Amino acid sequence: MPEVTVYGYDGGPLPAAVAEATLLVGGARHLDGVSSDAERVVMGSLSAAVERISIHDGSVAVVASGDPGFFGIVRALRRAGLDPVVRPAVSSVASAFARLGLPWDDAVVVSAHGRDGGLRRAINVCRAYPKVAVLTGPGAEPPALAAGLQGWQRRVVVASQLGTASERLTGPEGDWTEPNVAIVLARDVADGPAGWLAGGVRPPDGWALPEDAFRHRASMITKAEVRAVALAHLRPAPGMLVWDVGAGSGSVAVECGRFGAAVVAVDRDPASADLVRANAAQHGVDVRVVTGAAPAVLADLPDPDAVFVGGGGPDVLAAVLGRGPAQVVAAYAAVEPVGPAADALTAAGYTTGGAQLQTNRLVEIAGRHRLAATNPVTLVWGAR
Ligand SMILES: C[S@@+](CC[C@H](N)C(=O)[O-])C[C@H]1O[C@@H](n2cnc3c(N)ncnc32)[C@H](O)[C@@H]1O
Repeated sequence: MPEVTVYGYDGGPLPAAVAEATLLVGGARHLDGVSSDAERVVMGSLSAAVERISIHDGSVAVVASGDPGFFGIVRALRRAGLDPVVRPAVSSVASAFARLGLPWDDAVVVSAHGRDGGLRRAINVCRAYPKVAVLTGPGAEPPALAAGLQGWQRRVVVASQLGTASERLTGPEGDWTEPNVAIVLARDVADGPAGWLAGGVRPPDGWALPEDAFRHRASMITKAEVRAVALAHLRPAPGMLVWDVGAGSGSVAVECGRFGAAVVAVDRDPASADLVRANAAQHGVDVRVVTGAAPAVLADLPDPDAVFVGGGGPDVLAAVLGRGPAQVVAAYAAVEPVGPAADALTAAGYTTGGAQLQTNRLVEIAGRHRLAATNPVTLVWGAR
């Protein structure tokens, strides 16, 4: 097995030991300053480089940016069965926050690399969380990130070529260059509270919260038990965008936000906007509120991953299905829309299900208990 040492590069001088290796691997800019006659593999394809390293008989110096153990080459080397020694430099994420003078133990770090929806996931994390570092790359450049954040109150700072003479902090439309990391901040949040768990993403401390956890108009709130089943089918998580259409109090939107999803709450009633904002603030989540009647108002929104339809007719459900979310849940107090909704989901290619939920809540009355009936609600859901 080759002896592999991975050196992090943050613009500072590399250790003299790098030049003693019999194989050098790294980006052109990393290897530029290394004076050695050893064979060089200039990194293009990661898999080709790892393959070459694996068959080398001797010592290998791999030079990679920042901390190679953080979204870097160390994972690929270990997967190939190698056992590298790692000499990290300062991660670009740590440097970028340092340049802004900000703490970052409360920041979410997301990689926008990869063709499997990396940029989309990164945008949704930036929509959901107040302090995010995005590892950008080809196909996921800062302007595309900024474009996805339109409609959300965010400031994007691009930190380019950290540690070099060409280092700069710019906006997403400025003269940024590769490589760069984008720091995305909610306008009103620079420093989060001191915590004990790094990373900014954490599961909610409870869900399917009681109705009195939300400001709402009488009876215009999805009951906790119904919300529980709806959330199970919506499956909100970091990286997703959820629409809550006919949001009312925004109880579903807020709960999805508590699971780390980006959320848009839509309601035609302007009074609902205030309720949703108050509930979002109360629960410490960021919900974008759109006041207007669906389906028209949905046209300008970014495509959702999951949609809760709490209000609106068949035209609203049809418009939602036209946007192809992976999960849809619609709630109905009346029975008439149920069959057509199930048919519409099935016709749109969803695996469809539904259930009428009617709970009898335990209440105490004069030292005894009775079971008080709540109104039945039918949920119709689809997944694909
Ligand atoms: C039963 S409430 C939803 C309750 C909500 N899920 C909650 O937990 O608070 C229905 C809401 O849908 C809204 N609504 C109905 N039709 C709509 C439409 N076409 N576009 C937007 N909002 C609509 C109403 O204003 C109302 O606030």
